[in-house]
Amino acid sequence: MNGGKLLLFGATGDLAQRMLLPALYWLAADGLLPRDLSIVSTAREDLDDAAFRERTAAALQRSAPSAPFDEDMVGKFLARLRYVAVDAADPAAFTALAQAVGSTAGGLAIFLSTAPALFETTIAGLAAAGLADDNVRIGLEKPLGYDLVSSRAINDAVAGVFSEDRTFRIDHYLGKETVQNLLALRFGNALFEPLWKASGIDHIQITVSETVGLEGRVSFYDGVGAIRDMVQNHMLQLLALVAMEPPRSFDAASIRDEKVKVLRSLRRIDRATASTHSVIGQYAAGQVAGAGVPGYLEELGRSSRTETFVALKAHIDNWRWKGVPFYMRTGKRLPSRQSEILIQFASVPHSIFDMRGAILRPNRLIIRLQPDENVRLILMAKEPGLDRDGVRLREVPLDISMPDAFADRRRRVAYERLLLDLIEGDQTLFVRRDEVEAQWEWIDAIRDGWSANQMQPRPYAAGTWGPSAAIGLAERDGVTWHD
Ligand code: BG6
Repeated sequence: MNGGKLLLFGATGDLAQRMLLPALYWLAADGLLPRDLSIVSTAREDLDDAAFRERTAAALQRSAPSAPFDEDMVGKFLARLRYVAVDAADPAAFTALAQAVGSTAGGLAIFLSTAPALFETTIAGLAAAGLADDNVRIGLEKPLGYDLVSSRAINDAVAGVFSEDRTFRIDHYLGKETVQNLLALRFGNALFEPLWKASGIDHIQITVSETVGLEGRVSFYDGVGAIRDMVQNHMLQLLALVAMEPPRSFDAASIRDEKVKVLRSLRRIDRATASTHSVIGQYAAGQVAGAGVPGYLEELGRSSRTETFVALKAHIDNWRWKGVPFYMRTGKRLPSRQSEILIQFASVPHSIFDMRGAILRPNRLIIRLQPDENVRLILMAKEPGLDRDGVRLREVPLDISMPDAFADRRRRVAYERLLLDLIEGDQTLFVRRDEVEAQWEWIDAIRDGWSANQMQPRPYAAGTWGPSAAIGLAERDGVTWHD
């Protein structure tokens, strides 16, 4: 593929420097970017091309080496980059930008990695400068609003200029290899699907835990909190992929049609159920990986009710999932970084081993998304022996480590995949407007339930699995979180 242009807003920001530009370099180093793709970068800061290239070179050097840092390759990559300073509030700046970009005829992909407060003026500026015609696609980074109303306002502003088929809403979890692997696991194997429903599954757990704290993101995170930062987007997307019906094919419309049905079938957690179906927490000082860390309020330097942990018990009201609880939890400053989905299957209907004293446990499928990527199926097996004292059965794992199974393939970071899809115009791994809005609708009801019930985050010591009430949320149903 030849030609095309990429226009990157927020190019001096953290995401661009840490992820986007390195991802573009890795793609370029492997010859995966269109040969003549030029990259116009913008931000408010006044820099010239040389200064921006220098800064990018340093960012590439700092980034994890998904591809070798090769002087020659880096030089060629930097030569693709140009920089234009743009103040989104200044319409004249967009005229200069349009001149730098030139014709959109070969296709222009725009990536907005800026504060959402700038989305509307940026989009208006792009439209006025002629950078929004049918050849132009726009990629939008989260957060897309802070509730349904604000998200609709952003979506309306975008829709006034870019049709939905040219709008690419990013949820970087969808770019993760292991997240896509969920679809391969479910729909590429005949083994699981017959059991993948209320009669075959007891419950599902989705955990996304992080060891980091605020990481210098105070101004963004406080007032947002775990439910809007992680559940509204990443965790609900994971839930939708786990729970959706088989799509007709692996294409944008079929996949997104099925996901949105799940999101719309989520039973509301509202004022009546917020206190029984959700737990919120905020980390206090503690120990993570053996090192003492301060509490959230100390890092923040003032008081705050922002939750850094949330646990939910959700239900999907449709035929397939009738009565199956989905336990979800996410938090900062937890004991380990771990994203995983656990499927606990139903118990066998009758144990033939009862009379021999053996205890059976239900099978579990654990899909570990990060940091290590593996799929583990826990099965019952007989302990070797002559069984004079009764039969002993024990759980044994059937383990597949993805990096080992595909040792010859390089693992790509999410943004490599998503940037390439944006440049090439494939929407399968991007979130459609109706999905985002269904997500917000569900989240808004929970948050309304929290304020109506005056729920405050409960403190938990950094390095623990959240407030003890979160353990109670599952244990009340006889369920133990998989740590
Ligand atoms: C982001 C959140 O969307 O996802 C961060 O804003 C969070 O708070 C991050 O740390 C987690 O992403 P990953 O890929 O590290 O699991």
